[in-house]
Amino acid sequence: MPEITLPIRTERLILRRFEGADLDAFHAYHSLPETARFLPGEAKSYTKCMESVGKYANFVFEKEGDWICLALEAVDGPGLLGEVVLKWLPGSGQGEVGWSLAPAARGKGYGAEAADAVLKLGFEELGMHRIEGKLDALNTASAALCERLGMRLEARLVDKWHYKGQWATELMYAILEDEWRARRR
Ligand SMILES: CC(C)(COP(=O)(O)OP(=O)(O)OC[C@H]1O[C@@H](n2cnc3c(N)ncnc32)[C@H](O)[C@@H]1OP(=O)(O)O)[C@@H](O)C(=O)NCCC(=O)NCCS
Repeated sequence: MPEITLPIRTERLILRRFEGADLDAFHAYHSLPETARFLPGEAKSYTKCMESVGKYANFVFEKEGDWICLALEAVDGPGLLGEVVLKWLPGSGQGEVGWSLAPAARGKGYGAEAADAVLKLGFEELGMHRIEGKLDALNTASAALCERLGMRLEARLVDKWHYKGQWATELMYAILEDEWRARRR
């Protein structure tokens, strides 16, 4: 796959590599139970956030199984708003997208704007064919984001996971390159 050129700019956002200075802001929202509710693992400690930010800052995207987590910042002001993830899944041209925003950055369309930029990266720069999004069926904000992006609901896997003390139903959304291009036209 080609190199990933950063930063990526959208109308209101900059998607860039994480850096050490993001740590406090990253911890501020990842230490909240409401952020962790639908993510694997519990709310993150400061030490865990240090590990995550260090890993995201030094990403390598060279082979199947690799993934990037990009920091989101507003074009008109510094400060971490959240992150978007793109995973390179095994198989021909397969990817997966993910997202988390700080509470103050939600409800503004930033997640959809950043995720659309990641779909563009996957389809136009990295030659992906299909990008999916997997989520807990109770995560209605994430499902709405998938639909806002034009992703199709492909599967509902009942009690697919057991986490946070209960069974969870997984929804799988996906979009193909030609579907994404057709939406942009
Ligand atoms: C999932 C998550 C990223 C969704 O955030 P979000 O802000 O709702 O998502 P979007 O960027 O699509 O924004 C949509 C909202 O912004 C509003 N909005 C305001 N201005 C907008 C604009 N210019 N363009 C688009 N939407 C806009 C929309 O009306 C919508 O609001 P609504 O939910 O009240 O209808 C967020 O809830 C989150 O970080 N959750 C915790 C972590 C998590 O669960 N991650 C996903 C695990 S699968």
